[in-house]
Amino acid sequence: MTDNKKLKPQTDFAFKLMTWLYRAYDRIHNTKQDLKKIPLEEVTTVVDYGCGPGRYTLPVAKLVGIKGKVFAVDIHPLAIKTIKEKAAQESLTNIEAILVDSYDTGIQDSSVDLVLLIDTLPLIKDYNQLFQEIHRILKQKGYIFIEHGRTKLSRTREIVERTGLFYVIECKGHQVLAVSKAKR
Ligand SMILES: C[S@@+](CC[C@H](N)C(=O)[O-])C[C@H]1O[C@@H](n2cnc3c(N)ncnc32)[C@H](O)[C@@H]1O
Repeated sequence: MTDNKKLKPQTDFAFKLMTWLYRAYDRIHNTKQDLKKIPLEEVTTVVDYGCGPGRYTLPVAKLVGIKGKVFAVDIHPLAIKTIKEKAAQESLTNIEAILVDSYDTGIQDSSVDLVLLIDTLPLIKDYNQLFQEIHRILKQKGYIFIEHGRTKLSRTREIVERTGLFYVIECKGHQVLAVSKAKR
């Protein structure tokens, strides 16, 4: 049975604090190196699920180019506002920001090559609904790239495998890469 309760975002203060902490972290950490770990070859349509202030959305949009598209999905209105402002500032027209209040993104079935779930898993309340939605929007053999943040790597792997919807193909460092199983 689907739980129709609306998802609640964190407070504006918490979101702003998170944005500030990421900015500070990115000054000492090379995010460009992290981007190299994302399998973007032959990928045109990407979903940045839990995009936050867009640390990955914008560089990925540049990498996939104008023939590609990035959907930036978040439950926080400030995330969507920030993404729209940054995309406009950088004249990026291949980003669509989507504010959600459930696990329904509204993205077309089987239309996405890659879903990024970076530092977002610990905030997810219902793994089944999340991964069902990701499986629905992914193309056959589409990828999900998870940077697990505070969740242990082994636990992340278990969460993904338990859904029965993906094959884990790589589990390295802080990342899990999985491929979508065929749809029934
Ligand atoms: C810790 S931030 C990570 C932001 C970004 N991925 C990064 O690494 O810079 C997690 C984000 O996930 C969003 N979020 C939490 N639960 C969500 C859900 N069910 N659907 C979409 N976004 C969600 C939060 O609002 C927040 O912006």
